[in-house]
Amino acid sequence: MGNPDILLDVKDLKVHFPIEKGILLKKNAGWIRAVDGVSFSVRKGESLGLVGESGCGKSTTAMAVAQLEAATAGKVFFEGRDLSLLSSEELRRARMNFQIVFQDPYSSLNPRMRAGDLIAEPLRIYAGKKIISISENDIQKKTASLMDRCGLSPSFADRYPHEFSGGQRQRIGIARALSLGPKLILADEPVSALDVSIQSQILNLLKDLQQELDLTFLFIAHDLAVVEYFCSRIAVMYLGQIVETADSQTLYQQPMHPYTRALLSAVPLPDPKSARTRKRIILKGDVPSPSAVRSGCPFMERCPDVMERCRVEAPVLSDLNEKHQVACFLYDSPSKQI
Ligand SMILES: Nc1ncnc2c1ncn2[C@@H]1O[C@H](COP(=O)(O)OP(=O)(O)OP(=O)(O)O)[C@@H](O)[C@H]1O
Ligand SMILES: [Mg+2]
Repeated sequence: MGNPDILLDVKDLKVHFPIEKGILLKKNAGWIRAVDGVSFSVRKGESLGLVGESGCGKSTTAMAVAQLEAATAGKVFFEGRDLSLLSSEELRRARMNFQIVFQDPYSSLNPRMRAGDLIAEPLRIYAGKKIISISENDIQKKTASLMDRCGLSPSFADRYPHEFSGGQRQRIGIARALSLGPKLILADEPVSALDVSIQSQILNLLKDLQQELDLTFLFIAHDLAVVEYFCSRIAVMYLGQIVETADSQTLYQQPMHPYTRALLSAVPLPDPKSARTRKRIILKGDVPSPSAVRSGCPFMERCPDVMERCRVEAPVLSDLNEKHQVACFLYDSPSKQI
């Protein structure tokens, strides 16, 4: 058995999608390496933020962790159990423990189902398959209490998703994700589709729920400001790989990877004085295609500190100290002097 404090352990996860050409005879024309060797672990009760630009593989990572997307390689351990070795029956049971809250509360809820039924559906499915034992009456009670806890009046149970605002819809999504009593929430940009004024309400709700229900979070965002508020530790992702991990405070105060520095330099600062003195790093070019065949560091084309070595070798995520890991040759001297 591994460390009992670790709820989720992801080891060298890869998800590669085939690029198919041709209409009748589909030929494989290469691979999109959406997730390309990602390792991280999430301890019980913590919130790990997974941050990076659009397309870097955050959602695919979450889907593969939840076993909703097949991994090309690598392992996902939940409470020490390798999820790929479970039978479909065992996986269904295990899945009660990890649920996804999706980014877009508009497309992730079936528009033809009423709010109450959307929240009750996982309970009904699990009761129908005799995985849990709960009466319809108790399902109704539980649904009402979940609505109430998530800031929705249970009297709205008969309304359809289009009758709710974006923030309220996300509350439905959260209540639904909580219905089976999960330990881990995979929150995939849960507030990025919402108005800024609503975002903090939803974040506060998630924070309160975390305390109350002892939840653990993998919290995905492209915005470093959101994860700073929510997460105790942050992993920064670029082109399918994790380039830096540290506790939030360290990552904000001493970002090491040139990509993290650039991302942070774009976060607005509340203090105008420090905002004026801070150097804004503008990255050159676009994120390369995840289908390009390449060697070297994934960040080399855009890195302001690129060295010859970066073009031939790929740096691996290594310890700066116990709590701070970075994948960058700038810190690869034998003494690890910074
Ligand atoms: N089912 C799929 N088939 C083929 N390619 C896919 C599939 N899903 C994702 N991709 C590709 O994999 C890469 C990573 O996508 P992913 O959605 O995981 O990124 P993301 O970091 O969540 O981005 P965003 O911030 O926009 O949500 C992208 O290039 C995307 O186009
Ligand atoms: Mg995504």
